[in-house]
Amino acid sequence: MGLIIKFGQMAGSLGTQLPPEARAALSKLQTSSTSIPFEEVRHIIEQDLNAPIESCFDEFEEVAFAAASIGQVHKAMLNGVEVAVKVQYPGIAKLISMDLSLVGNMMATFLAGSSLPGKAMAQELRDRIVEECDYLNEAHNQQMVKSRCDGLPNEHVPGVVMSHTSSRVLTTEFVRGMSFEEFSKSASQEVKDKAGLVVFSHAMQSIFDFCYFNGDPHPGNYLFHDDGSVTFLDFGCIKKFNVEFIRNWKEMAKTVLENNKEENIHAVNTMGLIGNFKKFDHDFQWDMFQHLYAPFLTDDKFVINHGYNSEVSRLMLWENKNRFSMTLPSDLLFANRLQWGLYGLLGDLKAANYYKPVFHNAVYGDEKPLFST
Ligand SMILES: Nc1ncnc2c1ncn2[C@@H]1O[C@H](COP(=O)(O)OP(=O)(O)O)[C@@H](O)[C@H]1O
Ligand SMILES: [Mg+2]
Repeated sequence: MGLIIKFGQMAGSLGTQLPPEARAALSKLQTSSTSIPFEEVRHIIEQDLNAPIESCFDEFEEVAFAAASIGQVHKAMLNGVEVAVKVQYPGIAKLISMDLSLVGNMMATFLAGSSLPGKAMAQELRDRIVEECDYLNEAHNQQMVKSRCDGLPNEHVPGVVMSHTSSRVLTTEFVRGMSFEEFSKSASQEVKDKAGLVVFSHAMQSIFDFCYFNGDPHPGNYLFHDDGSVTFLDFGCIKKFNVEFIRNWKEMAKTVLENNKEENIHAVNTMGLIGNFKKFDHDFQWDMFQHLYAPFLTDDKFVINHGYNSEVSRLMLWENKNRFSMTLPSDLLFANRLQWGLYGLLGDLKAANYYKPVFHNAVYGDEKPLFST
């Protein structure tokens, strides 16, 4: 499930504090995950691909095999190849764009008075959601990410069939693999460790080499294979950074890896993480980095488990002495999803690995942006 549903549920769960119009808008987002009948699917495909569905595909399964956040996914055959056809619900993009200004204003209001840049964050949220509603944008993202993975043994990305893709229809090669749940139940610890490292390396290289990350690291966006290799799905929510931002991030990471507490405060400031410099408790921040970077500071294998994750989240959230003196550049709005999504997945797998060399290579390597910003 995607970003929008989750946001809708998150904001929807705030419940009665919201004005009635806002609640109505959010409840639309919450219920948009119901499926639509085949005749509607046919209509969308025929409108967008400009031909009867029978001539677009050799075979088309009428019942969807998976739910998408704002659509559903059908299996089909095309020139002898199995494909997955993600079809977006009719009218949803328009509905969401109308609701978005409301959600954006709400967010700006919620954050007013906090040290967070409410307006910029609302804009960032809007930008990502608008992009997520355009499957042509997703198709482009997917092709680019595929190009960086082609030839790699452990990272797979399904090819996109552009001739059968539009803003509401995304046709990609169907990949057979295990869901996260199946994989968690059946794989050996050794294979889980390997898949964990594949997912982790992919994410670190995305950020530090290729200057982007997938803002939706949900378990449903991976398929797992017997050998521990991973298929990456769902490129609707890609956050693209400019190189300078990534360089600042790397400089901050290096101060921790090199145990340079003195420089760290400047690097944290340059990253735009300090809202109130006078009130900022740097000793606390430095201690927090030791926990956050623990997997990268040891030469031993490190087990990312739920104990570790809850300790980090405790420090970052409830016990964060800098709660009110920190801020967050809007470019990092989705970084928390990376933190909880990626680490949550590694924690479920109890993935034990040598994380340090992977992180070092990413942080000390050169940038080669995959997307233009
Ligand atoms: N190429 C594919 N091969 C196999 N399964 C797929 C493929 N594309 C999508 N799926 C299935 O459909 C689900 C929803 O697709 P996804 O792109 O993640 O939609 P959303 O962007 O709405 O989250 C995935 O979790 C996966 O189970
Ligand atoms: Mg998804």
